[in-house]
Amino acid sequence: MVTNRTFTMLKPDSLEKGNTGAILEKINTAGFRLVAMKQTQLSKRDAEAFYAVHNERPFFNDLVEYMTRGPIVAAILEKDNAVEDFRTLIGATNPEEAAEGTIRKIFATSISENAVHGSDSDENAQIEGAFHFSGREIF
Ligand code: CMP
Repeated sequence: MVTNRTFTMLKPDSLEKGNTGAILEKINTAGFRLVAMKQTQLSKRDAEAFYAVHNERPFFNDLVEYMTRGPIVAAILEKDNAVEDFRTLIGATNPEEAAEGTIRKIFATSISENAVHGSDSDENAQIEGAFHFSGREIF
């Protein structure tokens, strides 16, 4: 199944550094339409559930700690080829390996504090969007 939507979070480091507006501007300029967006804070249970696929990884506890330490901005984005194009826009997980001009290259601190999330498949985009938004919050 190929859809034209992806899911993103601006992570706590982005909000702490005051980068929300600048990152949203890059997303907008790249041609993504915001179909849902909110500022919220994940509970420990939320983060453990969202990142359940990583729960055996050595960085899991640090990831949960990081993602719950302050507010995030969650959003569903629409564009043709949204998942792949958004992952190109944000760059590699590790900002040291991210291409010049990508969001992570510009705004991320490290592989763990990497500024933004982008879904890795259409299926996960759907699951992750539904995790954060009810039907009446999506436009
Ligand atoms: P993301 O790809 O959005 O979702 C999984 C997150 O786990 C990833 O961003 C990073 O924040 C974190 N992560 C992935 N790999 C590592 C790693 N090797 N060390 C620390 N954190 C990581």
